[in-house]
Amino acid sequence: MKNSLFEIRQVIMKARKQGWIPEESIGKINRMLRTMENAGVPEVLTRFQEEKILSEGEIQLLEAQLRQYRDSAQKKGVIKKKLFSLRDVYKHYKTPEGTFYALKGISLNIYYGEILAVLGFSGSGKSTFLNILGLLVTADQGSYIDYKGTRYQDLSSKERDEMRKKEFGFIFQESHLFSHLSALENVALPLRLQKKPNKECTEKAASILSRFMTKDELKSKKVFFNKKPNQFSGGQKQRIAAARAMVHSPKVIFADEPTGSLDYDTGQMVMDALFEAAAEEKVTVIFVTHNHSQARQYCERFVWMEGGEFKNQVVHSPENTMVLVKQLTGKELSKKKRSRPS
Ligand SMILES: Nc1ncnc2c1ncn2[C@@H]1O[C@H](COP(=O)(O)OP(=O)(O)OP(=O)(O)O)[C@@H](O)[C@H]1O
Ligand SMILES: [Mg+2]
Repeated sequence: MKNSLFEIRQVIMKARKQGWIPEESIGKINRMLRTMENAGVPEVLTRFQEEKILSEGEIQLLEAQLRQYRDSAQKKGVIKKKLFSLRDVYKHYKTPEGTFYALKGISLNIYYGEILAVLGFSGSGKSTFLNILGLLVTADQGSYIDYKGTRYQDLSSKERDEMRKKEFGFIFQESHLFSHLSALENVALPLRLQKKPNKECTEKAASILSRFMTKDELKSKKVFFNKKPNQFSGGQKQRIAAARAMVHSPKVIFADEPTGSLDYDTGQMVMDALFEAAAEEKVTVIFVTHNHSQARQYCERFVWMEGGEFKNQVVHSPENTMVLVKQLTGKELSKKKRSRPS
């Protein structure tokens, strides 16, 4: 079973969308959950009641939604379909000192609709892995196959471009917005690249961007839509970048430290908006981060990279959280745990 915190957060996000939990309670709930990392569901719900954050009726509704969430998560687990399968993928770079292997034969299965965290210290190969999977970089050898049975290494560069444009969305540490385009046009860009009709581009961009805006920003929507990137804060720019990554309904979102340059609360806001939208659209998210608490909050499965290899894979549970914490505090891992595709 997944960590209670994870389940409760998913259900709270849904409740927020449905509008039956007020915004001020959401803030209180998030603060409380941060202090109750490994608590069970009943304990958390009791605290909500004791602290009068939620009424009895609201708690009953939350319990019902938790049951629903577990049922659908169980079904999802039963029908686990592979989206990507990587086998023995290598990547080297030539350096003045000789050949450097950034990836040393990594193998991994990635499943439909999952939220996968890729963790590891700086220089361990996380971005290289993400960029290879996202077809931004080519591997030297090994095979990587997608859900349609496409062997990536057989694709022409035109086919790679097409696939990347249509099926993938990217968010990086810096927002990489085009400075001469308005917020709305930045978001519409993936649709324009696919030569979609003008009306579809603007309408779809407006609808998805609105989902990433706060209530106050929505009050003067047009002003927000028409502003240029240099008129936005870092968090606003990342929310625009997240909307751009989703506007063309991609199958996969590759997020490489999307909140790495933001403060805690702004990062949280970007992540909430991203994962809420991703859950609704049933997008697979591959999320590279240094931030283990964020990974535990949002992700279902973790892979840990070290020196160009996957050293461990875990699914979300309180015990596995401890494994993860040990890794993040730098404790040596057992070689026996080296991952192979499941
Ligand atoms: N173009 C390149 N030429 C030579 N070495 C490279 C090149 N790109 C990456 N590397 C090396 O490959 C290794 C993996 O890099 P990568 O960017 O994947 O690390 P990372 O885990 O994403 O690190 P960070 O957390 O700092 O972003 C690093 O040691 C890096 O120096
Ligand atoms: Mg990186």
